[in-house]
Formats: sequence, C-alpha cells, structure tokens
Amino acid sequence: MPDPEQAARARLAELQKEIEAHNRRYHEEAAPTIGDREYDALYRELSDLEQQFPQLASPDSPTRRVGGAPLKAFAPVTHRLPMLSLDNTYSEAEVADFYRRLQRLLPDEKIPVVIEPKVDGVAVSVLYEKGRLRYAATRGDGTTGDDITQNMRTIRSLPAQLKGNAPALLEVRGEVYLDKKGFAALNTARTEAGLPPFANPRNAAAGSLKQLDPTIAAQRPLGVVFYGTGLIAGAELQLHSALFPFLQQLGLTATERWWMAESVEETLQAIHELDKVRHDFAYQTDGAVVKVDTLVQREALGFTAKSPRWAIAYKYEAERVETRLLDISIQVGRTGVLTPVANLEPVTVSGSRVARATLHNEEEVQRKGIRIGDVVVIEKAGEVIPAVVSVRTDLRNGSEREFRMPATCPECGSAVQKDEGQVAIRCVNAQCPAQLRRRLEHFASRGAMDIEGLGEVLVAQLVVRGLLHDVSDIYALNAEKLGTLERVGEKSITNLLEAIERSKTRPLWRLLFGLGILHVGVSAARALADHYRSTDAIMASSAEELQHIPDVGEVVGNSIHGFFQEPVNRKLIGRLAAAGLRLVEEAPPVDPDASPFAKTTWVITGTLSQPREEIAELIIGRGGKVVGSVSKKTSYVLAGEEAGSKLEKAKKLGVRVIDEAAFRELLAS
Ligand code: IVH
Repeated sequence: MPDPEQAARARLAELQKEIEAHNRRYHEEAAPTIGDREYDALYRELSDLEQQFPQLASPDSPTRRVGGAPLKAFAPVTHRLPMLSLDNTYSEAEVADFYRRLQRLLPDEKIPVVIEPKVDGVAVSVLYEKGRLRYAATRGDGTTGDDITQNMRTIRSLPAQLKGNAPALLEVRGEVYLDKKGFAALNTARTEAGLPPFANPRNAAAGSLKQLDPTIAAQRPLGVVFYGTGLIAGAELQLHSALFPFLQQLGLTATERWWMAESVEETLQAIHELDKVRHDFAYQTDGAVVKVDTLVQREALGFTAKSPRWAIAYKYEAERVETRLLDISIQVGRTGVLTPVANLEPVTVSGSRVARATLHNEEEVQRKGIRIGDVVVIEKAGEVIPAVVSVRTDLRNGSEREFRMPATCPECGSAVQKDEGQVAIRCVNAQCPAQLRRRLEHFASRGAMDIEGLGEVLVAQLVVRGLLHDVSDIYALNAEKLGTLERVGEKSITNLLEAIERSKTRPLWRLLFGLGILHVGVSAARALADHYRSTDAIMASSAEELQHIPDVGEVVGNSIHGFFQEPVNRKLIGRLAAAGLRLVEEAPPVDPDASPFAKTTWVITGTLSQPREEIAELIIGRGGKVVGSVSKKTSYVLAGEEAGSKLEKAKKLGVRVIDEAAFRELLAS
C-alpha cells in the first residue's frame, strides 16, 4: 500500500511547480499552453489536496492561503514614502489648463507627458526586498495603511519573488481590481443569498481585501496593475515611461496601454483614444491620468498642499443611454428569492447590446419611481452590469403602469414571503421547480461539486422529465435514464456519468457549499468542514455551538441549524451517504518527529509579513516551541525587519538567525 501522505506530498510538489510554470506563461510571457478550464482543474486539485493535508501545504503555494487562519485585525503598516492622491476633473478645459500651467512653470522646455488609464480599483502599496515580497498594504491615510499581505498573496499575478535583477528595495504602487466578469458572477451569487449586490467592481475589490479570512479573497478573481513607485533603493529611473518595461521585466503587471504627448492637443487626443479602447480591458477604468514623464521636471514642479503639480486625473462621464422599459419579469433564484428584471427595448451601452437589467428588488423599483412603459436611463454599473439609473418622468403619457411584486411565485403559484429585516421576497415552496433547477445548477457548478456537463439546459430537461427531485437524484442517474433525453449523445452520457462519479470524492466543504444552505458561502462551508469534519457532527450540533464557529455567526448558524433539523434535509443527507459521497473528512495525521521543527525552540523578533501569533502557531503546529527571550538553548531566531536587541543577542551567543524567506523554505520542506 502506498502511503497516501507520501503520494500527496509528491503530487503537491508537482502541482505547485506546474501551476507556477503556467502562471509564468500566462502572466509574464502571455503565452499560455493550457486553457482556463485545465488550469482551474490543476489549481483546484492543489487546493483540495492542501485542504486534505494541511500539514503539507506550502506557504509559498500558488493558492497562497498563508497560514490559512483568519486574522483578528489588520496590522498597521507605515509606507516608506507617503501614498499621494490626485485632483479629479471632468473637464477637458481643466486638463488643458493643467498642461499650460506646466508650460508656464517650465518655460522653454519640452514637456513630455504620459497618459495612462485610471484604474478603478483599490490603491495598494507592495514592498519587495531583494526581490522577495515583504508586505502589501492599503493606502489608509496616505502615511499608514492596513497590512493586507495575506489577501494580496491570493492574487495569481502578484509574484512572491521578482524575476531578474530586482532592486534591493522596491515599493510599488498600483490598483487591485476585480475583473469585470468576476464582478458580474459575484453579484449574481449575492442576490441569490439575499445579500445586497456590490454597486461596482471597486467596492467588490475593496470588500474582498478587507476580509480577514484570505480564503474569501482567494475565491474572487482579483488582479493588480502597477503604475508607480514609492521608495526604490538600488535602481535609478529617469523617466516614468521607463517604469512600465522595468516593472514588466521584474514580473509585475504594469498598465497595458499608455500614450505620450507634448502639447495640449496631443494630450486631449490621447485621452480620447484611451476612451475608445478602455472597455476592452479586463478591469474597470474611470478616467485617464496625465503625468509628467521626466522625473527631473517633476522635482522642479513639486507639490501643492494636497497633491503633485506634475499629474492630473481626468474622469470620463459614464455613458448613459435612454430606452423604453417594455415590461418587468420575475426571476426565481435558488433560495427562492424573486428578482424583478427589466425587459428593455435593446440598446447599445458602453460597447454592448443590452435588453435586460436587474432591478434587484421592489424597494429599488419604488425608490427610483420606475413604471412599466417608462423611458428609462441606463448605465453599466462597473462597465458590466446594466442598471436603470433614472426615469424620464417628463416623457410620460399616462399609459405607464406601476409595478408590484406578485403575491405568488410565478413558477409554482405558492405564496411568497418577506423575511424579517430583509428586502428580498421568497417563494417558500421547497418543491418549486424554478428553485429546484437553480439548486441543482448550483450543486453541480464549478465552485461547488463541479459536475462538468450538468448545466442549465440539461438540468431543465431532467427536471421536466421527473428524473431529478433533489440533488441526491443526480447519483441515481444512469445510462438508461439519460438515454431517454433528446439530443444527448452516448459520449456525453459517459462523460457526464464519469463526472458525477468523480464528484463523490470532493472535499466536505464543497458538498456543504453545494447544498445551497441559505447564507452558507464558501468560507462558512470551509469553516464548518474544518471544525466538524462530518455532516453527522454538524447535525448533532446546537444552534448555539454553530454560532461560535469563526465565519459562521448568529444568522448563518441559525440557518445551518434550521437546515439540518428539517426531516427532508436529513433524509437527503442519508441518500447522499448511501450514494457514496464523502460526508466525513479525515483529521490530518500529525507526525511531529518527521518535521524539521520537532523539538526546536524559537524566538520571533522584528516585523514579519504575518502577525507573530500566527507564525508561532505555524511553529507549534509542527512540533516546535516559541519562547520570549534568546538564550544558548534557543535553536533559531526568526528575525524580521528592524529586529533589535534580540537579534544582537542571538549574534553574540552564536544562535542561528534566519530571515523570513528561509523560514518559509523550512516550512515548505
Ligand atoms: S498616480 C501622485 N496612476 O486614482 C500620483 N493613480 O487620485 C498618485 N489610480 O489615488 C497616483 N489609476 O488610487 C495614478 N494610472 C494611475 C492610476 C491611479 C488609478 C488611482 C489611485 C489614485 C487615484 C487618483
């Protein structure tokens, strides 16, 4: 019998190497050799294995869930150089004034400026020391921000180690964003859960970075673009335009398009050109930043009280169009939430055709005073999701109709209900076919049990034929039953049955998430699986006990308790168990003697990328001991930045001192 841990260790190392190579090809060489789906499969295999064998997970893993444990609070970080902001203007005349002022202040000089996209995300500062990522921080008040290193490490395109000739110290500034597609998907999931949708990708990105649990950030498609620097030591840049290739050589993602100009006219021209192409970027942009290119000129220009004289931010007006609201239809979601959807006379907004827009809920419709038949003003929230922003009441002719949410579910006719304190209206019939379809789709989706091939169309067919009444019926499907479906070939039947079979071994958290329990997202599902390790243990738990699990809390705890108290759900779990699904997670075996930390004594000092208590936990979990002061008996001193007297003492006593990078290597070994 091969040792499963041994096999996992080998596979983990293999996967990590492979994924890192794919990341490099994708992000640095722009020459991926595999598709997204294959990549995701590798990534998921890694993350599932790490979940199964947490003791083998490397802190340098591409999944970057450092430590895994949620933080208690964000530690403050003082920026090496302050993070500045710019004045915004919506007026081209002010951009022209800006350039003319430059000409006045630098008479007789050529003044080349760079025009680049203003990325609509969250400003971050990342510090690399000798090429190694030390920490990442939010802007905060410009002087001190929050340490968001753990969440930033979940970003696939942010290297932990720079390539090539990295400077001794590099503080890079940029913007973290949630890509446009990911934003749309996230909001759909939130509406389903009865949560308010994020207004735009920037809010969603900010929300993701502010999560104390990095697994949440890891679930969201965050990216980062760099456009500036703070302190640099060991490299000299004379021009801002030289920064982009410089950053790219180091493996950092820089602004993808930028323009040069040397006059008012050229500057405005570049701003217009950028406006034409910016909708094709993966991230949301809301303007153009104009910056003096020559750093010597920047120094000569200096600062006003608030911001530099050498840059200005121009913001584009959001594109708004008018169209007619033909009707409002109702969509029933997985949890029964009824969502009003605007059916519009098709129009083009920000580069794409729009015929539908979500109206979120009845209150929103009332607040905006929307009536069926109105001419409405449409804009894309975050350039992606069409939204009705206002109504042209002046164009009404009296034929417009007020909208009311139906008192019964449009799919099944059952009465609807409004939960206390929530705006959402729900169909409470658990047998509602619309809900059933959504529940099945969710269960089979990539984020949950990942049953490839079991999508919207097939689910709808199977429900109509009476082959699926709940998620456990998926495991009763066979070639004979599937053979009765129209236009489903033998090959797809085999593939689907194989995919169903594979889904039986997914980790427990995926099943818990897949069940679609109200309010249970990925992080709550993971927390539950980690804590209880079996569905039986969860079922046996009281609501009170559940509420004390981190990432669960009162509302979620009650919801989980309620779910597992329902006889139908208990039966469902029984059927899933009978089908052979994994309802128990093995506790990770620990062999402290095999660890390089076994019987070692550690002192932690200086500033590290993670709070000391967490680092201590990593050491203790591997069989080591952490003490407060250095003595001859100390095995290692882990010295972070600005380590002081303890480091001195270690040197004097000849105790082994290691830096964080070496520590991480030891952890990974
Ligand atoms: S330069 C002193 N460049 O927009 C220069 N900022 O007020 C400071 N932003 O706070 C920033 N894209 O968060 C710069 N290409 C870009 C940018 C950019 C987005 C953000 C940044 C800044 C704000 C402008």
